Amino acid sequence: MCGIIGYVGKASAAPILIEGLRRLEYRGYDSSGIAILNGSNTIELRKRSGRLDNLKDLLLENPATGSCGISHTRWATHGEPSDENAHPHSDQSGRLAVVHNGVIENYKILKDRLTEEGHEFVSQTDSEVLAHLIGKCYDSSTVSDSKDRLVSAVREALPQVSGTYGIAVLHADIPEFLVGARLGSPLVLGLGRGENFLASDVGAIVTHTKDAVYLQDRDLVCLTPDDFNIEKIDGADSTYEVSTVDYTPEQAEKGEYPHFMLKEIFEQPTSIGNAFRGRLVDDQASAILGGLGLTPRELRDIDRIVLCGCGTASHAAMAGEYIIESLARIPTEVEIASEFRYRNPPLDKNTLVFVISQSGETIDTLAAMREGQRKGHRVLGIVNSVGSTIARESDGGSYLHSGPEIGVAATKSFTSQVTVLALLGLLLGRMKHLSVEYGQNVLKELRELPAKVEQVLLQSERIRQIAIKYNDVPAMLFLGRQFHYATALEGALKMKEISYIFASGHAAAELKHGIIALVSEEVPSVFIMPKDSVYEKNVSTLEEVKARKGPTIAITTEGNTELEELADEVIYIPPVMECLSPILAAIPLQLLSYHFSVERGCDVDKPRNLAKSVTVE
Ligand code: F6R
Repeated sequence: MCGIIGYVGKASAAPILIEGLRRLEYRGYDSSGIAILNGSNTIELRKRSGRLDNLKDLLLENPATGSCGISHTRWATHGEPSDENAHPHSDQSGRLAVVHNGVIENYKILKDRLTEEGHEFVSQTDSEVLAHLIGKCYDSSTVSDSKDRLVSAVREALPQVSGTYGIAVLHADIPEFLVGARLGSPLVLGLGRGENFLASDVGAIVTHTKDAVYLQDRDLVCLTPDDFNIEKIDGADSTYEVSTVDYTPEQAEKGEYPHFMLKEIFEQPTSIGNAFRGRLVDDQASAILGGLGLTPRELRDIDRIVLCGCGTASHAAMAGEYIIESLARIPTEVEIASEFRYRNPPLDKNTLVFVISQSGETIDTLAAMREGQRKGHRVLGIVNSVGSTIARESDGGSYLHSGPEIGVAATKSFTSQVTVLALLGLLLGRMKHLSVEYGQNVLKELRELPAKVEQVLLQSERIRQIAIKYNDVPAMLFLGRQFHYATALEGALKMKEISYIFASGHAAAELKHGIIALVSEEVPSVFIMPKDSVYEKNVSTLEEVKARKGPTIAITTEGNTELEELADEVIYIPPVMECLSPILAAIPLQLLSYHFSVERGCDVDKPRNLAKSVTVE
């Protein structure tokens, strides 16, 4: 949450920073700002609440020139979205500027102390305290070299704060020099020729360089146009490696699509294929997940699996629970990461813990991983974002290889997560009781998925018509059983987050235990009911809704025409083996929420109050 980018080089900083902020907007978009050091060693500060366009307009009216600067796009934690609360924040002297991603938990104590000392604050943010604290350390320092002085000020200030931070700092006394540091919030150093960058995410700098250093917690970095230095905040040595960014700038563009979400929905034939490519082993009728780093003996000894994630990733985990238990018969539990990290759940040596995260930066998932590791457990990651903190700190795992997901609503990451969990189920199942024939069938069905997804996508227009028809409903129910309990939860989450329609997902048989009270002519129920082992049960539940005049939208298997008579609307998915069906059934639900959102005039890619990467608690 919140995106930061800094630039030091020879080019004009403002366009580079604004373009970087555009690429980081998914991390937060309620205000933005920029601080640029001009030729006369003065900081030009421009900030505006609202979308990035407001800042662009401000810069047109009042340009900021210079080739060294920092910038920020905000997701508010402390203080409402306003011009004052937008970053960068200045210190008491007005000669130092800071952008911050994270939360300073003891900001109140620090603020009171600084206020007593005569500091005046203009915002309600926790971050402004950081600017004042570093500025105070700088002004009272006896170090004569101004660069060393800024570094030592950052070193002196940061141990006084508790919480999380990714920061970039600029001082008017020091041309062509930036300082960055991180603890708990991501920060990447981009290495160019005669220019260097700092950013929350490589996506912000990928048009300028593919050489990046993913900073680690407690790293402090100094940048000039031609050089950089990384040490620990306490002065100890830090090890780092220069990585090559593995995606192209075009991958992070909308291309011909009106929204990133629609582009990412339509990328699923490819992204699902990428999730299983190179991982299917025909002669063993099994899968290979080399990144797990476990020997066959270690895999065979696993007697319990814990899958941990937040939001959509937790729904993928729930689908994974059903898949792994059905294929491998290994007891599997889903833990919401934010609960797991504080719950002290019992784990034993044969329990395998997975954390699942698209971004690899979700703070609760990261904390859950670290909690498992602290107890001495091996924690594996199922992650999309290469080089992310979870990818680097986990004890192995699998990448999704989905490419960048920029729309705030997770789509292709969900189907890829379920695909990887199916590979895991197959791998473990084939080490236990699962027959060669069954394994071969899973491989065949996996290979057929991309073409089947293409078929589902052809129904986008039909789904749009449904969205037009029901677009002013006050609420919706999503109902499914077995493998589609997870799908129902995911469908409801998608609808809520981008269409702002209250939606709730349930195990369909729970309807009678209370939820049926919500059924009315105004509240449609979406049934995820392919022709599977619980189909007939779902038909009965659908009848119960119809008997109470509730509109019904059914997602079922092609060829199952009997629902045309029963449900008000029917959407078809191709036949698929039961354990893989959440992958196909999620797609009409993604399209449904997408079209509802468009029809209701919502901001599909940047829904209100949300940010893509939740890096604060
Ligand atoms: C919903 C959504 C969120 C994320 C959740 C976890 O569409 O995007 O619920 O799934 O914040 O994010 P990651 O997977 O990055 O850990």
